[in-house]
Amino acid sequence: MRKKVLGVLVSGRGSNLQAIVDAINSDRIVAKIGVVISDNPEANALRRVAGLDIPTAVVERKKYASKQEFEAAIIAQLDLHHVELVLLAGFMRILSPQFINRFPARVMNIHPALLPAFPGLDAQEQALRYGVKVSGATVHFVDEGMDSGPIILQEAVPVEDDDTVATLSERILHLEHRLYVRAVRLYCEERILMEGRTVKILPPRQNPREEGERH
Ligand code: GAR
Repeated sequence: MRKKVLGVLVSGRGSNLQAIVDAINSDRIVAKIGVVISDNPEANALRRVAGLDIPTAVVERKKYASKQEFEAAIIAQLDLHHVELVLLAGFMRILSPQFINRFPARVMNIHPALLPAFPGLDAQEQALRYGVKVSGATVHFVDEGMDSGPIILQEAVPVEDDDTVATLSERILHLEHRLYVRAVRLYCEERILMEGRTVKILPPRQNPREEGERH
C-alpha cells in the first residue's frame, strides 16, 4: 500500500508527535510525515523533529489579519506537502468549518478524556472535579463542533482517590500515545469505515486477492 502523507499540527510539548514519529521509524505505521506545522515558534514539538528529515513550518495567528487568512496559510503548507491526513497533536486552536470541510474525515484529534465527557480545555481537571472513577483518551475525526466528531478509538484508565491533575494527566498521556498510533495505523491501512457518525474498524487485510474483492 502506498505510504500516506501526514501533516501534524502542534502548539506545545509534542509528545504525541513524538509517538507518531517513533511509530513510523519502527515501521508500526507505514506513512510519511509531510510537514509539522506549529502556531507557536517556541513549541518544544519543533525541537523534537529538528534534524530529522521532516519539513516544519511556523504559522502564527498574530501574523494574519483574520482567522481565515491564518488557516489559509496552514492549508497552503498542507497542500504544498501533499498532506492526506491532518493530525492535531496538542494543537490548541479551534479550526473553522471552512478548514474542516476542506479535509472531510481527514482531520484527527486526540483528546485526554472519554468524549463526550469533558470536551475543551483542561479535560483531566474537569474529570477530577466531577469525581468520575474512570477517564481516558479519545481519538476522533474533527467536525465543526468542539471535540464532537465521530469517535475512532477510546480507552479508559482508572481515576485513583489520590490522583492530582499531574498524575491523572500522566496516566492518560501514556494511553494517548498508544491510542493515537493505533488510530493512525488503522487509517493508513484503510481500515476505518464511517457510517454516519459511527466509525467501524475493518479487520486486517489478509492478502491481495481479498483486497481486490473489497474494491
Ligand atoms: C495532550 O494531552 C492532548 O490530548 C491535549 O493536549 C496535550 C498535548 O500534549 N489536547 C487537548 O486537550 C485538545 N483538546 P503533547 O503536545 O505532548 O502531544
